[in-house]
Amino acid sequence: MDQNQLKQQAAEAAVKFIEDGMVIGLGTGSTVFYLVDALGRRVRDEHLQITGVATSSRTAKQASALGIKMIDLNDAPELDLTIDGADEVDRNFQGIKGGGAAHLLEKIVALNSKRNIWIVDASKLVAHLGAFPLPLEVIPFGVEHLYQRLAARDLKPKFRLDESGQRLLTHNKNYVIDLQLQQIDDPHALADWLDHQTGIVEHGLFLDLVNQVVVGREDGVEILDA
Ligand code: A5P
Repeated sequence: MDQNQLKQQAAEAAVKFIEDGMVIGLGTGSTVFYLVDALGRRVRDEHLQITGVATSSRTAKQASALGIKMIDLNDAPELDLTIDGADEVDRNFQGIKGGGAAHLLEKIVALNSKRNIWIVDASKLVAHLGAFPLPLEVIPFGVEHLYQRLAARDLKPKFRLDESGQRLLTHNKNYVIDLQLQQIDDPHALADWLDHQTGIVEHGLFLDLVNQVVVGREDGVEILDA
């Protein structure tokens, strides 16, 4: 099975956690694409009353086209469940997200959910976080100074570029800086430091946040309880 088939397998297992009447947070990314597709089929075939809250315009567009009722987070009660992808998950169920530059909206939605499930293929499970570059969403104003501060701390910052070589702009018209750390020894200490740097809107460390991880493996789906 290739990586996409493993992602699809995880997504199709996770869609079964969604029950009629739920308000669901829908993440972003290639794994969530399969989830939204599978949810669209369930809504159509089982006539489910599901309300969705999206973490990106990509997801919102896909879900609406499949007939899933989508609302703004501001109009939603506390969400019953959010299902999202992840870029890395360690043994303590800490994660890195933001490979698709959607981690700010994803974290806001996750924090407003009663439960959070991540869907991943087995390659996302790691011993230590950090081989995947850690994304920061940053305000453009004064960003060169923030960049220097990150470099001085040896956090190996790099601006993320779009296809035309320009600095990538997020949904909120901010930049993304990726930290090429290789290994994060103390994710909580790093998150705490990043949380206190003015100009960083949000980082991609998702700590103590997930309840279950659904993993697509060659030999089937594994559900891990955090
Ligand atoms: C989006 O910004 C990310 O947080 C994604 O959830 C994450 O990058 C996983 O993406 P894939 O499912 O495409 O691997």
